Amino acid sequence: MAIQRTFSIIKPDATKRNLTGAIAAKFEAAGLRIVASKRIQMTLAQAETFYGVHSERPFFGELCEFMISEPIVVQVLEGEDAIAKNREVMGATNPADAADGTIRKEFALSIGENSVHGSDAPETAAEEIAFFFSGLELVG
Ligand code: CMP
Repeated sequence: MAIQRTFSIIKPDATKRNLTGAIAAKFEAAGLRIVASKRIQMTLAQAETFYGVHSERPFFGELCEFMISEPIVVQVLEGEDAIAKNREVMGATNPADAADGTIRKEFALSIGENSVHGSDAPETAAEEIAFFFSGLELVG
């Protein structure tokens, strides 16, 4: 498998509890390099666009309100098989199902407040990186 880039969000429940460094350390320990990183606070319109694929889901409103409730840290992670590796490090969406040692098992509060987001495929990784980062911010 080649070197890939993936997109990550450290979510409001985690930034609020000062877990940015602890989560970044998990990525780095797994061999993922943080090649871009910034702390931002999304507008409601940005959150609704970013999570547009979930717009028909019953939790959409709650999800968007949560994602704008505090700052988030958006990052680009790079490494061998980075998309799958990041999903492995994050653990299952619902922390109750997440494996021991994963970010969600250790830090997530609930299925909604689950500390991190990560791209699920190369196409979404490219789209999500481009949504938050300009080419000038991606030095490699
Ligand atoms: P994420 O990887 O950011 O992608 C969509 C998010 O929707 C997901 O993580 C969860 O945080 C959230 N989500 C999924 N299912 C539910 C649910 N049943 N209730 C609230 N939020 C959910």
